[in-house]
Amino acid sequence: MATQDKLAISGGNSIFGADHAWPTWPVHDELEEQAVLEVLRSGKWWFGERVAKFENDFAAFQDARFGITCNSGTTALEIVLQALDIGPGDEVLVPPYTFVATASAVMRVGATPIFVDVDDSWCMDPSRVEAAITLKTKAILPVHFGGRVCELDVLRAIAERNGIPLIEDACHSWGSKWSGKGTGAIGKCGVFSFQHSKNITAGEGGIILTDDAEFAAKCRSLVNCGRISGGVWYHHVNLGTNVRLTEIQGAILSAQLTRLEVQTLHREKNASFLTEGLEKIEGIQTQRGNTHITRRAYHLYCLRIDPGSFGCSREKFIQAANAEGLPICAGYPIPLYEQPVIEQWYRQHGITRPYCPMVEDFCRRSAMWFGQDVLLGSEEDMRGILTIFEKIKANASNLKD
Ligand SMILES: Cc1ncc(COP(=O)(O)O)c(C=O)c1O
Repeated sequence: MATQDKLAISGGNSIFGADHAWPTWPVHDELEEQAVLEVLRSGKWWFGERVAKFENDFAAFQDARFGITCNSGTTALEIVLQALDIGPGDEVLVPPYTFVATASAVMRVGATPIFVDVDDSWCMDPSRVEAAITLKTKAILPVHFGGRVCELDVLRAIAERNGIPLIEDACHSWGSKWSGKGTGAIGKCGVFSFQHSKNITAGEGGIILTDDAEFAAKCRSLVNCGRISGGVWYHHVNLGTNVRLTEIQGAILSAQLTRLEVQTLHREKNASFLTEGLEKIEGIQTQRGNTHITRRAYHLYCLRIDPGSFGCSREKFIQAANAEGLPICAGYPIPLYEQPVIEQWYRQHGITRPYCPMVEDFCRRSAMWFGQDVLLGSEEDMRGILTIFEKIKANASNLKD
């Protein structure tokens, strides 16, 4: 297929035909089937040895000492904030380009999310953090966006200097490593999601990782109705809730974990191939990396278009790429601080609406991504993706708004 060929959106042939089979997600086989059957037949469906095994194995996989599961990444965030005694009157620094839970969890414990813009790594810009810290700041909560580990050394140093914890929102970064250590327990703690689209899933689920034994015990208590380990059953010490994982989820996650390393390396290899090719295309910018990232999960393959130098708008690009068979989208439509729930919070608390220039550009003009399942494709699939970019570039002048 020559890149000068007519675009599919203009009536030409598409690079991936209508019947192209992208890898499906979630990946599962008789391992999950067997695991679920075993739990069903055991008659023990709620948290027990399978959940405990997964907690230990996943913590070990991420080089953390303790793992505490719960029913989602969202509740994991809420639990760690509560365990840190963060509440009304407090502020937590978050990026404005992330899923709503990173900020809503802060509000759910009564504190205010303060937005620190991202940079071309798609993660919190460390150079803007110190200026956002006030006496009310009680934590820094960056996101390893798409699996790209944020600038952990600088952020950790800022957190230490200011005597506040660094919480990693690691909900995209199962398997990512920074200077050889897994994400999650590099700061005070980290949280992961096992929701359906995630690189390891039980439909829903979450985990908190930490190296701090006392903090781990507090989180475990909060997840389990405020009970304390070894305590009497109907004795509730902390103001906890019930967000425990089930044995069925624990068993599925252990099965999923057996494939995580191989899938992570497969996606990483495909992503490196794409990045090498895409960087040569004028007007396309890939997510900036860092040599400290010694292994990178890809939950999303993120890239930006500069409409001026590429030759067409992001919207036209996406329409053309979709017609060629690439399931790429524009990502978050608005900065997180424009979500009604956050605007309302800011109004109620008399806080001026923030303006973060980079995230405005991401949402309104430049950001695009496709999912981790695409990166599980073959080498030929990746070559096809590159051809799509080259083909659209060659025909960009025909794609006027
Ligand atoms: C960055 C980030 N944080 C937190 C969450 C919340 O995870 P969950 O969907 O498991 O509640 C998500 C989910 O998409 C996420 O992407």
